[in-house]
Amino acid sequence: MQNIDILVATTSGNTEYLADQLSNQLKEAGFSTALHYEPDYSELVEGLTEQSVWLCCVASHGAGEYADSMLDFAEELHQHKPQLNELRYGVIAVGDSCYDTFCAAGRDCDAMLAILGAKRLISHLEIDMSQDDPDENSSTWLQSFIQSM
Ligand SMILES: Cc1cc2nc3c(=O)[nH]c(=O)nc-3n(C[C@H](O)[C@H](O)[C@H](O)COP(=O)(O)O)c2cc1C
Repeated sequence: MQNIDILVATTSGNTEYLADQLSNQLKEAGFSTALHYEPDYSELVEGLTEQSVWLCCVASHGAGEYADSMLDFAEELHQHKPQLNELRYGVIAVGDSCYDTFCAAGRDCDAMLAILGAKRLISHLEIDMSQDDPDENSSTWLQSFIQSM
């Protein structure tokens, strides 16, 4: 059974809720999932195999910074720049368009993983929490993500 590691960047919980919904949908579609509410760099990067797939759900906070739960992980990724050739991934960027730095952390995550050699399965999704329906948009995007695997 294909496993999906779901990496969550959240400060106030919206993205955790979203990740939980996506995890349930993936399980219903026949996948296994591992939710990483505070992604551990060593565990995830050293545990990579050719089967590894990451679904990164990343909220922006501060001035386009990663939300708290993934700050350390992002910092280590930028610092160590590991080879991620085995990895396949997709990113859901969560933010609010009232900020100039709309979805900046999710965009950074998407670009960074590609720079490190990972294969982007599908263009990232941007969710504007002040305009969009997060559940509907992410569910639709997830169907394409599943088909891309
Ligand atoms: C203090 C603060 C700073 C924020 N900064 C940004 C930002 O720079 N860019 C953005 O797109 N959204 C920003 N947001 C909006 C959050 O991404 C949005 O509220 C999101 O739902 C938070 O997700 P979370 O509950 O998982 O932490 C900010 C929100 C707060 C409260």
